[in-house]
Amino acid sequence: MSKIALITGITGQDGSYLAELLIAKKYKVHGIVRRVALENENHRLWRIKHIINKIKLHAATLESYASIVKIISKIKPDEIYHLGAQSYVDYSFNDEFSTLNTNINGTHFLLSAIKDFSPKSKFYFAGSSEMFGKVVEIPQTERTPFYPRSAYGISKVTGYELTRNYREAYKLFCVSGILFNHESPRRGFEFVTRKISYSVAKIKMGIQNKIFLGNIDAKRDWGHAKDYVRAMWLMLQKKKPEDYVVCTGKQYSVRDFLKLAFSLVDLDYKKHLIIDEKLMRPSEVNSLIGNNAKAKKHLKWDMHYDFRSLVKEMVFSDLDFIKNEKFL
Ligand code: NAP
Ligand code: GDD
Repeated sequence: MSKIALITGITGQDGSYLAELLIAKKYKVHGIVRRVALENENHRLWRIKHIINKIKLHAATLESYASIVKIISKIKPDEIYHLGAQSYVDYSFNDEFSTLNTNINGTHFLLSAIKDFSPKSKFYFAGSSEMFGKVVEIPQTERTPFYPRSAYGISKVTGYELTRNYREAYKLFCVSGILFNHESPRRGFEFVTRKISYSVAKIKMGIQNKIFLGNIDAKRDWGHAKDYVRAMWLMLQKKKPEDYVVCTGKQYSVRDFLKLAFSLVDLDYKKHLIIDEKLMRPSEVNSLIGNNAKAKKHLKWDMHYDFRSLVKEMVFSDLDFIKNEKFL
């Protein structure tokens, strides 16, 4: 019999790739979406339009325990992937309250609903390298202490601790993936990599001339979302619930990304870049780099993409996107 999976955040970058992966594995895939998304399909459902007939969508919100309980008690999923969140770090400085409410309560509501109505469901929590924040150890592993630098980071540390506590206190199968930055042509336009790839495409096509950025010396460990959703699935296939760091183990600066993205279409980023102080964060995460040894050893996980192939795919996909004026 097919397994049943429930994905929160199915309209997001990771949700869309994970849904594709699970469909290919013959799962029955359910997704939680906000009612407004159903009302405006072209806008919010662009990443899952091509698989819309293969999934079942339910209107709910992470702010409402009642809406979540209704779905979980009805479909009793074998696996629940909790990816829904206010995921934009920069926005969390403008609205700490909604970030904390959605991200902490949403996770708590799901865990509590599983405990009371579907205790056999396995649960994946989307933890983040932002939890390491001002890093106390290089590279970061599953044992590195957290030092979050934003309401977003704090919300993810709390979600991680809630997940651990439900695992220990109620013996539920709950795990956190501590995923480092992962990108793709489906990345939201507010994140720096997509802002760059989209701008490069527009500059190349003569639609735009300048790109405004903040701290281009920030360093990240960037992978591809398609590779990372595979790790999520692998975590829920293990006998024992454990947390895993997922990363490439390689680090590049925003400047490196910028330089490569422009050079791929024979442009010089220095001729188009303007540093805008308004885009600097009040407390920045300057440098992240992870150690993926545990995921490689215990999950037999590996990557198909490297930094260059990721940047290349994003830039050429955005060139195509602009040329064809179509969503991916
Ligand atoms: P994303 O593209 O921003 O997607 C976020 C998803 O959450 C969207 O489907 C969004 O729905 C949904 N959502 C937000 N608020 C909600 C609410 N109140 N109720 C219901 N749904 C809500 O994020 P992503 O890049 O796919 O990341 C997936 C998860 O992994 C997030 O939890 C993120 O924090 C975490 N993470 C991401 C990375 C990364 O580099 N991508 C790294 C580590 C951890 P709408 O479409 O309606 O807005
Ligand atoms: N967004 C953005 N826009 N970031 C900029 C800009 C800009 O114009 N200029 C410089 N940056 C810098 C940011 O200051 C940050 O240091 C870096 O680029 C990456 O920013 P984002 O792409 O917004 O990602 P993030 O690292 O803050 O957060 C992402 O990764 C986390 C995992 O570490 C998000 O996907 C989070 O949801 C995820 O948890």
